[in-house]
Amino acid sequence: MAFKALCLGLLCALFAFCIYTPIPSNIEEYWKVTAIDIFAKTGTFMAICLENIGIIKYEKFISMILRLDHTQPVSDEYVTVMDTEFVDIPVRLYLPKRKSETPRRAVIYIHGGGFCLGSFKNTAFDALNRWTAKKLDAVVVGVDHRLAPQHKFPVPYEDCFTVVKFFLQDEILTKYGVDPTRICIAGDSSGGNLAAGVIQQSNIHQEKPQFLIERTSICLHPPVNHMLPQESNNVQNDLEFKHKVKIQALLYPSLQILDSNLPSHQENEHGIILTRDLALKFASLYFTEDETFPQAIRRNEHMPLESRHLFKFVNWSTLLPEQFRKNYVYTEPILGRYNYSLPGLMDIRVSPLLANDSWLQNLPRTYILTCQYDFVRDDGLMYVSRLRNVGVQVTHHHIENGIHAALSLMTSPLYLQLGFRIRDMYISWLDKNL
Ligand SMILES: *[C@@H]1O[C@H](CO)[C@@H](O)[C@H](O)[C@H]1NC(C)=O
Ligand SMILES: *[C@@H]1O[C@H](CO)[C@@H](O)[C@H](O)[C@H]1NC(C)=O
Ligand SMILES: *[C@@H]1O[C@H](CO)[C@@H](O)[C@H](O)[C@H]1NC(C)=O
Repeated sequence: MAFKALCLGLLCALFAFCIYTPIPSNIEEYWKVTAIDIFAKTGTFMAICLENIGIIKYEKFISMILRLDHTQPVSDEYVTVMDTEFVDIPVRLYLPKRKSETPRRAVIYIHGGGFCLGSFKNTAFDALNRWTAKKLDAVVVGVDHRLAPQHKFPVPYEDCFTVVKFFLQDEILTKYGVDPTRICIAGDSSGGNLAAGVIQQSNIHQEKPQFLIERTSICLHPPVNHMLPQESNNVQNDLEFKHKVKIQALLYPSLQILDSNLPSHQENEHGIILTRDLALKFASLYFTEDETFPQAIRRNEHMPLESRHLFKFVNWSTLLPEQFRKNYVYTEPILGRYNYSLPGLMDIRVSPLLANDSWLQNLPRTYILTCQYDFVRDDGLMYVSRLRNVGVQVTHHHIENGIHAALSLMTSPLYLQLGFRIRDMYISWLDKNL
């Protein structure tokens, strides 16, 4: 027994040594970040081993671990917290207890987790949403969309779309005492992707969403309401939104799938927590479990020939500020090598960066937070450029020593000051702009 334990210990030490990649020296709380990184990479390694020997799928294993961190809806002296459903989609509501003379502001929050993991029940998201409700005296709605790979695109997107649409009805806003002119949609990481995608379709005053008008050019799939849950009521059948969302907040969002060779992709190959392999695995599972697909994305050879005209929307050599372009050389991706039959790859609801300028102009005031040491950093930076180019008001905070998923690292013992800093920047922007 002791011998086995010793072997296991040595194996772990050897593994930690092998995966160790130097952490940039300007990272604050250096040792804590190192420990978190080793912990995350060891977990990933174990999960991939288990997947390879056929015991359990990677994302199932990680989900099992994350489920240990689920919280119950616990009310406190300031906020009533309850779990319910909006058209069959689980939501957690945070309703301030204090009496209010006027209707309140509201935030709809979509959690991150690479489309495959996570829940509003996770301690960090529960704490963030509770804090938001308390600090802003606002109604907060945490959304649990269904997860890939069991539910691939467009299901997670449509779940978020449905929740937003349901919430924006007059009866519902009145029921929760919400002011229809003061609503925000926010999300982090893949949640930022879903939030940006939903806002693009929802905020076009009384017009039809773009993917219904332009189905031939960008989207090659049936309209959204064909894929909604069976129990759908007339909320989904009518795609027009009654109210405009006032602002959006995107925290280290992923915003495109077309180009997988951006400078931030190259710099963060072995990124803290989110490595290239992991990011591409999640991105792939959103569409398919075809095992050649992550390899194709890795080589930037996954897009079809018909996508050529879309690359101007994600051209980092024109959209990234010089300090991030550095000496990287733009190379055109190789198109049409595989011909995957995955219409989602060219869908604006997967890559909000594909919206054209006149479409982007309609977007509301925006907050974008990017982190320097983050695989998806350049998606956020490019969106800042594109939105500013068409005159949308954008507040952009770039955290020089920031890492991906810091908001999920706000619970003991693995909490980082960085997470609290991001939270406070986000909340103070909301407070001023919502
Ligand atoms: C932008 O996209 C919208 C919606 O798809 C379309 O109606 C419009 O013609 C496009 N504008 C330009 C300038 O291409
Ligand atoms: C991207 O921009 C570069 C110039 O910065 C240009 O040479 C290249 O053709 C552009 N590619 C696309 C697909 O727009
Ligand atoms: C993909 O499609 C293009 C054009 O339709 C064709 O030229 C190419 O050979 C196809 N590639 C594969 C691997 O089937």
